[in-house]
Amino acid sequence: MRVSLIGSIDRDLNSTYEQFVPVAPRLPLDSQVNPLDEAKLATRYSFSNYSLAVEELTFYSQQSLLDELAAANTPQQKDQLFLSIDALRQATRRSLAVDTQRPIELSQAELERLINSPDGRLTLNRSVAVAANVQPTLMRLLVLLVPFQAPELTVGEPAKLQDPATAVGLRLVYVGRNLSTVQHLLDQLKNVMLLLFGVGLVTAGTGAYALAGQALQPLRRVQRAAERIGGQNLTDRVPVPTTGDEVESLARALNAMLGRLEGSFEAQRRFTSDASHELRTPVTAISGHAGYLLRRTNPTGQQAESLRIIQSESARLTNLIASLLQLARSDSGALVLSRQPILAALFLSDITRELAPLAQAQQTTLTAVGEDVTFEGDPDRLKQVMINLVSNALKAGAQTITLRSAQVAGEVRLSVQDNGPGIPADQLERLFDRFYRLEDSRSRDQGGAGLGLSIARGIVDAHGGRIWLESESGQGTTAHVQLPIGNVPVLDEDDVP
Ligand SMILES: Nc1ncnc2c1ncn2[C@@H]1O[C@H](COP(=O)(O)OP(=O)(O)OP(=O)(O)O)[C@@H](O)[C@H]1O
Ligand SMILES: [Mg+2]
Repeated sequence: MRVSLIGSIDRDLNSTYEQFVPVAPRLPLDSQVNPLDEAKLATRYSFSNYSLAVEELTFYSQQSLLDELAAANTPQQKDQLFLSIDALRQATRRSLAVDTQRPIELSQAELERLINSPDGRLTLNRSVAVAANVQPTLMRLLVLLVPFQAPELTVGEPAKLQDPATAVGLRLVYVGRNLSTVQHLLDQLKNVMLLLFGVGLVTAGTGAYALAGQALQPLRRVQRAAERIGGQNLTDRVPVPTTGDEVESLARALNAMLGRLEGSFEAQRRFTSDASHELRTPVTAISGHAGYLLRRTNPTGQQAESLRIIQSESARLTNLIASLLQLARSDSGALVLSRQPILAALFLSDITRELAPLAQAQQTTLTAVGEDVTFEGDPDRLKQVMINLVSNALKAGAQTITLRSAQVAGEVRLSVQDNGPGIPADQLERLFDRFYRLEDSRSRDQGGAGLGLSIARGIVDAHGGRIWLESESGQGTTAHVQLPIGNVPVLDEDDVP
């Protein structure tokens, strides 16, 4: 933009130069200028937007100047040449809209460039003072070096002029045009473009955001559905948008993958369930036969010991099979809950009463405290959860175990706190994996199968609650079970006995 504007100014300077050349000789010399000079005023009217000047280097042609420049070998000789040129310029200067006290100056280098240029022209940006007491303004300046043959213009050293008719000389013509309007225009244009760019950017950004939001809507629906699907509801599928694009293919691929996962989960669950069923009868038979041999025959002391081991290991296997069956059932979503209102405090004290003999056997203090919150749940299943938590604490060797109930954020929280050895933080979640136990409890005889916590999680999940462990090594462990209150009938004060 700037380049094309400057190009058009340069073209304009050229045409002004052509109009100015015939007028130039009529302008008075700067040294004789009268501010009210009529010729000058009339010319100013024709060239109102320009600063113009003309200087004459009589007896010089471009070639002779070039020769003299080439002959000036030392800097002093060069200075001498330019001094004489400057004297001629000053004596012959005629100008219009240039302060006579501050004429347009050209440096030695610029003059040299001009003389050396093949077409005798030079274009510069230069500050020019257009009148006395006025700040110089930035101008685009065209300087031309043109030969002329006009005896009436020859001034300077007329004594040397033998034949005025053959007088030759070089004219230095300056045509300047104010750049401030162009600069102003460019500044305005820049502001407009910046504004347009800003508006365009904001509009494009908002449009792109809105379009992207709309385009991503089906993907978000698929994402939300995929996030809801877990082991418990593998039969669900993500919605398939009929967009005919990659999102639709992605949803179809996800559904196909869910189908395959469901198939392999189902096969695994069926295997566990079938294997447990098949194992139940032989294990019961082994245990029964061992009992029969103990009761009805007279085994030696060592034989009786082996039979008792067979009996206790069969009992462990029976428990394990029952646990596996229950896990298989909760995996398939077939865990049926029989919900009824439960009084938390009463529920916990029942459990302590039931487990008191076990606790006493290892000198552990087992107590129940807390608020009496009523909530809805399956008491048998939840008892199974709590018994596993208490038996875990007992197995860990806790000396005190406290069962607590409290109402937290509209839910009931049942906790089992012990002062056992605690659990390392990185193991807390892993203990809910099937068959996962801490290293030391694997080596202990009383260690279980490692299924209790996963069964507990299955039961708590079926209640719509959550179960987690909090522990610090050496500081004991607290297991929390938090359940929704559910639909419990509001008791009238009169109903309370
Ligand atoms: N309160 C606790 N303190 C220390 N370790 C614990 C505690 N509760 C659980 N654990 C660790 O977590 C493991 C897993 O517990 P989980 O109840 O799942 O299995 P288990 O008790 O070993 O066997 P199961 O319950 O199937 O008879 C335990 O073996 C034990 O190492
Ligand atoms: Mg356990």
